Amino acid sequence: MAEVEQVTSQAGRTLTVGVLGAGTVGTQVIRLLAEQADDFTVRSGARLEVTGVAVRDTRARRDPAVPRDLLTDDATAVATSNDIVIELIGGIEPARTLILAALKSGASVITGNKALIAAHGPQLYAAAAAAGTDFYYEAAVAGAVPVVYALRESMAGDRVTSVLGIVNGTTNYILDEMTTKGLSFADALATAQELGYAEADPTADVDGLDAAAKCAIIASLAFHTRVGLDDVTVEGIRDITAEDIREAHASGCEVKLLAVAQRLGPGAGSGSQGVSTTGDTGGTSGISVRVHPALVPTDHPLASVHGAFNAVLVEAESAGRLMFYGQGAGGAPTASAVLSDVVAAAAHRVYGGQAPRESSYAALPVLGPEAAVTRYQVQLLVDDAPGSLAVMASVFADNGVSINSVRQSAYVGQERAVVTIVTHPAAVRYLDAAVDGLRRCDRVVEVVSVRRVEGD
Ligand code: NDP
Ligand code: HSE
Repeated sequence: MAEVEQVTSQAGRTLTVGVLGAGTVGTQVIRLLAEQADDFTVRSGARLEVTGVAVRDTRARRDPAVPRDLLTDDATAVATSNDIVIELIGGIEPARTLILAALKSGASVITGNKALIAAHGPQLYAAAAAAGTDFYYEAAVAGAVPVVYALRESMAGDRVTSVLGIVNGTTNYILDEMTTKGLSFADALATAQELGYAEADPTADVDGLDAAAKCAIIASLAFHTRVGLDDVTVEGIRDITAEDIREAHASGCEVKLLAVAQRLGPGAGSGSQGVSTTGDTGGTSGISVRVHPALVPTDHPLASVHGAFNAVLVEAESAGRLMFYGQGAGGAPTASAVLSDVVAAAAHRVYGGQAPRESSYAALPVLGPEAAVTRYQVQLLVDDAPGSLAVMASVFADNGVSINSVRQSAYVGQERAVVTIVTHPAAVRYLDAAVDGLRRCDRVVEVVSVRRVEGD
């Protein structure tokens, strides 16, 4: 530790740190700031001193890592009286007002608040630029996995064509439990809640809203375009059944909740991670930003992401394919991402330099859900009679949808069978027309499900 001793003795400078929130993540940030204080001093060039920790209830029981004498319910005072402010309250208000006050006071701000950034990112960036200070949010996407840094800084010299990610650990855990244990959605959700992955109100996770906020941030960074939560087409996993998962397996696929951000249309590039970049865009260039469950072939890298883990696959013109994988949630993993931002912001205050500003110069149009071109798996309950298959095939052909594979499951009684058809890439309007045609077809008893298939 000779280097530590030398630098800490030279680093006469102290930077004050205010922490807003001492919950799952805040507690671990405070613990690590104390435990690794000497290392942070060396890395940033200044001693980092926590001067205040704002919470809702100062009398609640806390982890001993949180010094009681630093607790306060005066969040505004903490936000406006420190060099570095770490916002770990979550939600829109009071987090937004506190961050704006902190930036205005000249503090460098670090947050993990994806909901706030997806809703008010441009305002926060503008406030940081006006104050000439840093605004960092590595923890907002995929917890410990350094995706924000990768897109914002590492990929600054490249042209990203698509990003495909599993960015919500709770839903990945639920789908994994349904897959490996054959559980229903409700039972898998209950297990996720028992283990503390899913909240009592699981809406943000299972309805895809948490993933959508992360997807908006990913798309903004990847395509230098402002993308908000309202721009993301969102579908969650509530209606995924154990039967869907069995059928996906039989088709050689896993079911995953995917966040997809991709360039579409002329000049979009060729992309090689199984997301078509042609698009049904009417000749317009733009981006498609969406969250939905999809079948992913078992040999695709995202298919082997299990449990509550996150993974993000980035495809760029020069770099090719990059994969980032790791823990997307949890106190210590998320604190790791927060602290990387703290060190960067502190070093800037000591040695000079700034965090990247908002980059929205490309201003690409965000295309509607109809622009995406993907493969589909269509599951049908049909009359098991001569000619049924030919009739169904002609419905697809008449609507310009090419079939890739057909599988008939075991006889299900009453002279009926389940037929599972996987298409080649098709635009939504052609696929919808084919599904309408199938619903009108007298050989089809029921269109059981229509699922996207992403990735090759
Ligand atoms: P928690 O709910 O565990 O903690 C929130 C903290 O904020 C609590 O200490 C709470 O105080 C405090 N708080 C709430 N409202 C106020 C208020 N009005 N004024 C002052 N303090 C307040 O949240 P997490 O630690 O899980 O999450 C924090 C942030 O990190 C969120 O933005 C979240 O999205 C993000 N994040 C979380 C991850 C995770 O795995 N948990 C992963 C990635 C990002 P009190 O303790 O008194 O109730
Ligand atoms: N609830 C999120 C998840 C973690 O399950 O991935 C915080 O973003």
